[in-house]
Amino acid sequence: MKGNFNYYMPTEIVFGPGRLKELSRLPLPGKKALIVIGKGNSMKKYGYLDRVISYLKENGVESVVFDKILPNPIADHVGEGAKVARENGCDFVVGLGGGSSIDSSKAIAVMAKNPGDYWDYVSGGSGKGKKVENGALPIVAIPTTAGTGTEADPWAVITKVDTNEKIGFGCKYTFPTLSIVDPELMVTNSPEFTAYQGMDAFFHAVEGYLAVVNQPASDVHALQSVKLITEYLPKAVAQGNDIEARTAMAWASTSAGIVESLSSCMSHHSMEHAVSAYHPEVPHGAGLIMLSVSYFSFMASKAPERFIDLAEAMGEEIHGNTKEEQAQCFIKGLKKLIKNIGMQDLKLSNFGVKKEEAETLAKNAMDTMGGLFEVDPYRLSLEEVVTIYEGCF
Ligand SMILES: [Fe+2]
Repeated sequence: MKGNFNYYMPTEIVFGPGRLKELSRLPLPGKKALIVIGKGNSMKKYGYLDRVISYLKENGVESVVFDKILPNPIADHVGEGAKVARENGCDFVVGLGGGSSIDSSKAIAVMAKNPGDYWDYVSGGSGKGKKVENGALPIVAIPTTAGTGTEADPWAVITKVDTNEKIGFGCKYTFPTLSIVDPELMVTNSPEFTAYQGMDAFFHAVEGYLAVVNQPASDVHALQSVKLITEYLPKAVAQGNDIEARTAMAWASTSAGIVESLSSCMSHHSMEHAVSAYHPEVPHGAGLIMLSVSYFSFMASKAPERFIDLAEAMGEEIHGNTKEEQAQCFIKGLKKLIKNIGMQDLKLSNFGVKKEEAETLAKNAMDTMGGLFEVDPYRLSLEEVVTIYEGCF
């Protein structure tokens, strides 16, 4: 067991089916909220936005809605949202929806209290890595998807469109103060997006387990999350209103978010961000699925040790004479899971990504999110990253 680690997890998590209504009486961190939602219609259509506004009102909180966030959120909307928050005197933000809305609410919370441009504070790529001097507005996260784990981590993933940079940024101020995780809000997700989002959570857990900055608490969460997703994601995909499956997936996602907070994602995530920075129509989870077999097969051949535990958590029988052979049992489990959620035919080429882009993508991944390559259990060279991309076609 690792003997040196930091444990910091400051978010209060209110978890369980039907618990959104407690927003009407929970202690909240302010009196006027900026509610951040996506540009699409779903938060309105399913009544989630109206419910949040009325529960806040019951709790004595006024609200203003900012509804411009794109599925792959962009930096321009961060500045715009922060301006709306300042002009209306909002003293906290509520991120309602998928990862894009909640991540944006975190970035907006920072920019509502700090001068300049959001990209001044981002580290990596062309970000200036400036210190967040003034803290951030308190953040309340209400996820309606099970995948990003953003309700339990400090990360905000935002794209700078003109430079094709998609970078995760976070600091101690960007952990949500409160997250309400209500699996009943997740039954409206389509089978396709349930699969993408669920696999995002799966890879947070897997990467956090493999990353060299793993620690005892992240290990416990990661292995439980992997086990739950292997069992319940196919059920949630097949039967969207299976509340037991939705509840298991909601916890698997939140739990994997805790993994992201205590450990870290790996370069698999950097490589996906490069793909969806150049091809914003690629959903994050889909990008991860398409890269995963090539990526983890390579990684398992170089640093097999911890893959064996992951294969066991997936219920795979371990066979093989060497650690390298045993580690491949995880790849077998991964392929099986991808098939069980109906994603076995997903290909980068279906999204217009070309094999010739491999080097551009590899350079972008290493330039913009190079930090994650440093926590990989094996240090990849540029050539190896290119080879992994090429292995996805
Ligand atoms: Fe992710």
